[in-house]
Amino acid sequence: MRIIGIETSCDETGIAIYDSEQGLLGHALHSQIALHAEYGGVVPELASRDHVRKIVPLLKEVMAQTGVNQAEIDGIAYTEGPGLVGALLVGAAVGRSIAWAWGVPHVGVHHMEGHLLAPMLEDNPPEFPFIALLVSGGHCMLVRVNGVGEYTILGDTLDDAVGEAFDKTAKLLGLGYPGGPAIEAMAKKGLAGRFKFPRPMVNRPGLDFSFSGLKTFSLNTWQQLIEAPSDDREQDKADVAHAFQTAVVDTLRVKCQRAIRETGVKRLVLAGGVSANIALREAMAELVEKEKAELFYPRMEFCTDNGAMIAYAGYRRLAAMAKNSDQEVEAGFNAKPRWSLETLTAP
Ligand code: KG4
Ligand code: ZN
Repeated sequence: MRIIGIETSCDETGIAIYDSEQGLLGHALHSQIALHAEYGGVVPELASRDHVRKIVPLLKEVMAQTGVNQAEIDGIAYTEGPGLVGALLVGAAVGRSIAWAWGVPHVGVHHMEGHLLAPMLEDNPPEFPFIALLVSGGHCMLVRVNGVGEYTILGDTLDDAVGEAFDKTAKLLGLGYPGGPAIEAMAKKGLAGRFKFPRPMVNRPGLDFSFSGLKTFSLNTWQQLIEAPSDDREQDKADVAHAFQTAVVDTLRVKCQRAIRETGVKRLVLAGGVSANIALREAMAELVEKEKAELFYPRMEFCTDNGAMIAYAGYRRLAAMAKNSDQEVEAGFNAKPRWSLETLTAP
């Protein structure tokens, strides 16, 4: 079975073709970072327009790159939500139109299910069940994954997502967008121990997170710094970035340890944009060693948004649907800007 995956939920246009026998055949990504950088964050209207410009050329590029022709495609998967509604509508419209024109089945994929299943694209995929730390620009969750579509949210953020906290702290420090990679690069130059940031919620029971206080702590620390004279502002920035990142990583580590111990599940998956963070990966590698557990994460380019994870998640759902029914291919389509992961069911 060969599936085209289309991702347009936010600021990346991603297209991929996944083959159930041969694995990922090819993929292409267009990032809108340069487009949004001058605004310090994603401008939804610009995002939608750019998806419109890039989606068909990218699709053609992946078809040419893989040598796959239209008759060899068995289904289309597109991100149906959650995300920016205008951006989602572009992928949904193109995905459904191709499915309709080519007479193949289609499926709307939950973006976070894509992230959760992204490690399955690697050579050593995790077996079910596993615990996933889903950390992206819009989410910070601990999820128990018993199988495709079998998700129990063990912990969620009460306010900001972790990527959002990275982005806002970076903006505050004048490091630009997206903030995660900028903070990570700056933190490497930072001195440990100059500032002690709080580890929110670690002393309370449970697996929920809260990052808005940490963001405010960054703001207050930075304001106090800039009100005082300094010999080296860049070093000040690096020290704040370091303290912030260390506090985030430490908080996530404590919660993951608790999740492993409470569930007895010894497989930990890192997924979503923030899982690209090396300090986070290193801390989690130490944790799993201590807990005699295993760690999994997607390759770097599949941590952030991409079409490959949507093609894979779509394949898992379409393969199951093909066994159960003959889907009617009609022309309507939908987008779900808000969509809870827990409402999904096994295909
Ligand atoms: O999964 P993703 O590409 O998009 C969403 O679904 O949100 O995640 C984007 C988020 C942004 O907040 C970005 O700053 C963060 O992931 N991010 C990182 C790193 N790379 C991306 N955060 C920390 N360290 C990184 N290296
Ligand atoms: Zn994402």
